[in-house]
Amino acid sequence: MKCLVTGAAGFIGFHLCKALLNRGAEVWGIDDFSSGKEERFHELSKDRSFHGLPGPLDAVSGLAEIIKQVALIYHLAAVVGVKRYVEDPVRVIETNVCQGAMLLRLAQLHRRKIVFTSTSEVYGKSSVLPFNESADRLYGSSLTSRWCYAISKSAAEHLCLGYAARGLPVVILRYFNVYGPHGDSSVYGGVANCFIKQALEGKPLTVHGDGRQTRCFTYIDDIVAGTIAAGEAPAAVGHIINLGTDKEISILDLARLIIRLSGSEGGLIFQPYEEFYGFSYEDVPRRVPDISAARRLLNYRPAVPLEEGLQRTLDWHRRKRAEVTNEKGRQS
Ligand SMILES: NC(=O)c1ccc[n+]([C@@H]2O[C@H](COP(=O)([O-])OP(=O)(O)OC[C@H]3O[C@@H](n4cnc5c(N)ncnc54)[C@H](O)[C@@H]3O)[C@@H](O)[C@H]2O)c1
Repeated sequence: MKCLVTGAAGFIGFHLCKALLNRGAEVWGIDDFSSGKEERFHELSKDRSFHGLPGPLDAVSGLAEIIKQVALIYHLAAVVGVKRYVEDPVRVIETNVCQGAMLLRLAQLHRRKIVFTSTSEVYGKSSVLPFNESADRLYGSSLTSRWCYAISKSAAEHLCLGYAARGLPVVILRYFNVYGPHGDSSVYGGVANCFIKQALEGKPLTVHGDGRQTRCFTYIDDIVAGTIAAGEAPAAVGHIINLGTDKEISILDLARLIIRLSGSEGGLIFQPYEEFYGFSYEDVPRRVPDISAARRLLNYRPAVPLEEGLQRTLDWHRRKRAEVTNEKGRQS
């Protein structure tokens, strides 16, 4: 199988490329390293079946030729991270909508199947739980720039469905809060990875708001398995599919769990949203997916419980920290 993965140096893209290579696929990976890491291309390139193409999607030379060669496209490249949406809505729309549209046009031209990665954010602040793929979406004002990401992914979903109506094989996946090794633990990253970093540094875990907001956290291996299944299962074509777990936890309880698992003595602190994001932000109180479509169409069964996934992620962070310390020791 020959595949193209956009966003291949990102958190999920990197894991997806590794899994595809392990299954014997030949993989072309595109990334502009805006949030992805160049060293991941070096790591992936150890397998001669990986071809790394650095650069933004709309500037990669010979993209049409590559698309002609592959059987399947996994489109993950996007501006990701709540703080980024608030800071730079232009880049969000230009990347997530305009570059996505360009890729879809090429896919249509060469009739190549495309798996588009969307997000739980598209449900907005809907309170009808669990979120079903056919449910209404509810967004706040355009003056609140956090919604630009949800709108950008929603617009891209409409494009995908429009092309599907013209005969393009498309699958839309809506991911729910993915975490695991290699996850971004900077201020732009997901909360689980950020908490783990703070815990291992002995710093207080920073809970935004009152911590009563809930999410369903999905371990990276489950997301990768579901994504690969979406590329392979004929029944998935033309569908929007939630990919996540339906085990809900509050952010405060997540912080407490990470403190227990890590043995951190740094405690936790609460930070008002406006102090972290500025005033162009509002939070979503609860987010729970209905994953029956994923079960039915992809035979998707999330296998890694939260506590185990967090423990694996903690272990990975500890190993990385030890490597960095050893490297510094060697250099001095
Ligand atoms: N991580 C999550 O919890 C989550 C949740 C819902 C949806 N998603 C979606 O999954 C996908 C992957 O997310 P991730 O968590 O791996 O984020 P990530 O930021 O690690 O990966 C995105 C990658 O795209 C690259 N990129 C950005 N703009 C580009 C461009 N114009 N051209 C080429 N490369 C570009 C970045 O450098 C990065 O490597 C995204 O589409 C995201 O919207 C992720």
